[in-house]
Amino acid sequence: MCGIVGFTGAQAAAPILLEGLKKLEYRGYDSAGIAVMDNSVISVNKVTGRIANLCEKTDDGKAVPGNTGIGHTRWATHGAPTSENAHPHLSNDGKFAVVHNGIIENYMSLREELIKEGYHFDSETDTEVIVHLIEKYYKGSVRDALIKTTNRLRGSYAIGVICNDNPGTIYAAREASPLIIGVGTDENYFASDVTALVSHTRNVIYLEDGEFAKITSEKIQVFDCLGKEIDKSVVRVMWDIRAAEKGGYEHFMMKEIKEQPAAVKATIAPRIKDGKVIFDELDISTDKLKSINKILITACGSAYYAGCAGKYALEKLCNIPVSLELASELRYSEPIIDEHTLLIVISQSGETADTIAAMKECKEKGATVIAIVNVVGSTVAKLADYAVYTWAGPEIAVATTKGYTTQVTVLYLLSIFFGDKLGLIKENYEEYVKCVQSLPRFIQQAIDMNPAIPTLAEKYHESKALFFIGRNTDYATSLEGALKMKEISYLHSEAYAAGELKHGTIALIEEHQPVIALCCNSKIMEKTLSNIVEVKARGAEVLALTFRNNEKIVSVADDLMFIPEIDPIFSGVIEIVPLQLLAYYVAKENGCDIDKPKNLAKSVTVE
Ligand code: AGP
Repeated sequence: MCGIVGFTGAQAAAPILLEGLKKLEYRGYDSAGIAVMDNSVISVNKVTGRIANLCEKTDDGKAVPGNTGIGHTRWATHGAPTSENAHPHLSNDGKFAVVHNGIIENYMSLREELIKEGYHFDSETDTEVIVHLIEKYYKGSVRDALIKTTNRLRGSYAIGVICNDNPGTIYAAREASPLIIGVGTDENYFASDVTALVSHTRNVIYLEDGEFAKITSEKIQVFDCLGKEIDKSVVRVMWDIRAAEKGGYEHFMMKEIKEQPAAVKATIAPRIKDGKVIFDELDISTDKLKSINKILITACGSAYYAGCAGKYALEKLCNIPVSLELASELRYSEPIIDEHTLLIVISQSGETADTIAAMKECKEKGATVIAIVNVVGSTVAKLADYAVYTWAGPEIAVATTKGYTTQVTVLYLLSIFFGDKLGLIKENYEEYVKCVQSLPRFIQQAIDMNPAIPTLAEKYHESKALFFIGRNTDYATSLEGALKMKEISYLHSEAYAAGELKHGTIALIEEHQPVIALCCNSKIMEKTLSNIVEVKARGAEVLALTFRNNEKIVSVADDLMFIPEIDPIFSGVIEIVPLQLLAYYVAKENGCDIDKPKNLAKSVTVE
């Protein structure tokens, strides 16, 4: 979960590297550095903290001569966020500089080997073994030295290298961490993802695992792990540049909350034609579908909670048991999986290490894998049998919003698509399709119906703890609502199945304890109403989320948020929106760094 960039061309490299790193800061932002080559002299500048510190140190790059360079913004894994541990790392002979995103799992044994051979280390990082191995194997060809080096590495890496024997050349290598080459005019780039490139070029080459690149301003060569040159297609990125910038909002998170109607519409539009749900990317036969006896959903964090929200629709419409497993648990739980298992992997970034590992485990056991993913060409997308893109556009805020709602929307579409293929939903097909088509409009209404949320945030922003309760889809949404609150406002928040509270946790309810009660399922509303009465009897203050005409809840709750009424199997995409807004405004009240919460990174590409 770091970001790397590289540049070579006629322009000064440092300002371009710094600009690219700013676009990648959401991937990690506790330290940063650049290495720039001026003719054959490599200069390195590193800082702790944000890219802004690096810009200050280098006068926005103007103080650093040279038109070839690499850069890195870090989320510390091995070694604290210090300037010594910041990348780039230099070889002992000063000939090489390296940046790296990923984890080298066997770095300790390599470090011991290299120290025995006389190499000295300046940092505690796993990355530094890479630059010393390159020095060790270098006999005149950087590409060959890089291939020999990566043959020694176990783990994940996206590596950038410069060598002062090769002015004007940058090298790259990829294994299980994203790395993209930007194809410019008389200049070329590499970066961890498209947002760092799109202001310079929309033409990109996605490096695959085990591939290497040698890049100059005129030429891009890609090699396989045997050093054989291979042809790669240039893909045109269609993202709107503004989409990767704030567009007038104070925070990316609010921009992305407000983008949800459009994002969900983009998810739906290509998949409903003439009233029919279609998935061009899914050529699963009806016989294959009928052979599936279990759907297993795996993911991490919010993506996991998206699976929890989508489970109800899948089970109801497809009549196939759906279970959920956290990817970080699944990969070590020896899951019972075979060719009759359909694994649905959910990941916004497509680079979450635990999710990738769990997916590989299940594939080996014979599962058919569908990936619901936002980043085109990401590792999860490539590993899956079928990649279903959410088309949410770039999500920059660390806390996901449109990533989550578009993931749940895809699950709803899949539920209808599979239910229809299995011949189970003829009677309600049209109604289901209409429900999903109404989601963008209902999300907008959920935004517009709650102008009082900033005032509610003022009331609750100093709470010691917050409880979120709900049943069924409301419970799944509570899980995501609690995570949103935790990760951006730092308030302790817990989600509970409403019926579960009385089995112990209710002991924590005291005078004025805020309880956020989700009551968006009229079929089981009475049950949650009694839970509201229970906690109120013990002094709790209840903020209920429900429909406007729900008198019973409106009459007992202390505060209210509203959503438009919709079939509860499809309500997850709607009811999360007020909870996203509540978390946002509480975090604002608390003066938190909303887009870059402490200790977090946008994509957790390490275990
Ligand atoms: C999102 O708000 C969280 N920051 C985090 O839980 C995230 O959902 C999780 O790390 C999974 O990321 P992914 O969807 O990119 O795999």
